[in-house]
Amino acid sequence: MERREWTNANVAQSYANVFAKAADMVVPHLVEAAGAGEGTIALDLCCGHGNVTAGLVKVGAQVTGLDFSPAMLDMARAAVPEARLVQGDAMALDFADASFDAVTIGFGLPHVPDPPRVVFEVRRVLRPGGRLAFSVWCGPEVDTALGYVFGAIARLGVPDIALPPGPGANDYADPAIAFPVLQAAGFADFSQTVIASSWQVSDPGAPYDYFRDGTARGGALLRSQPPENAAAIRADVVATVLEKHGKGPEWRVPIPAVVTAAVAI
Ligand SMILES: C[S@@+](CC[C@H](N)C(=O)[O-])C[C@H]1O[C@@H](n2cnc3c(N)ncnc32)[C@H](O)[C@@H]1O
Repeated sequence: MERREWTNANVAQSYANVFAKAADMVVPHLVEAAGAGEGTIALDLCCGHGNVTAGLVKVGAQVTGLDFSPAMLDMARAAVPEARLVQGDAMALDFADASFDAVTIGFGLPHVPDPPRVVFEVRRVLRPGGRLAFSVWCGPEVDTALGYVFGAIARLGVPDIALPPGPGANDYADPAIAFPVLQAAGFADFSQTVIASSWQVSDPGAPYDYFRDGTARGGALLRSQPPENAAAIRADVVATVLEKHGKGPEWRVPIPAVVTAAVAI
């Protein structure tokens, strides 16, 4: 499902053009948490259209970006010609042991079927002392567009439209899940920082549109709803944005993220 959705050029372009406005706000924090600077040999996993890759290049790192979506890689190659961009699977890296100083994963870990396997692969390709930094969206326990949309789907969507089994979208925002996986793979010095990322929108239904058009999970759940359920879900998102963030005519809708950092031992 993830591969099918992210390989769809419409989904990839919509993610890059609108949804990723919030992901872009997280990029400097990921670059800093990865300790990247002049001459750092960096790997950007699940690089997508290259926003984190570009952030790493900007501080002088030598960057390899990896993604399994050709549509994403086409955009990344156009945006960041300085980087080496390769097609591959984050769960089975075709790189030598200890060949990188830093690895970033911007909003990629929840999309792989087996996140601990990615963390083990990252540890293998990092040199001792190298740093991993990854971001995931905060869960629905805080005010977040993600909670507004997925809450509305749970209440108003057709119950048998469901996702295939996989990790929870926000599992790795939880230190009780993330830190033991990092420790088991050979990392230490874990830390987490919450980033107040958000979207500035002039339509209170925009978060619904962004998830429907530019994400794998949201898209798979929303695009197949019958019209009456889709309309009810969108109306519910509009009502939540108005209730929580005022009458408009512009809204800053929060979609906060967590950046987790760790050092390879
Ligand atoms: C939400 S986008 C994140 C893009 C970018 N890193 C950012 O921070 O905005 C997730 C990306 O992960 C990629 N992806 C998902 N599973 C993957 C896997 N197993 N191997 C490589 N890339 C994967 C998708 O193609 C997509 O480009």
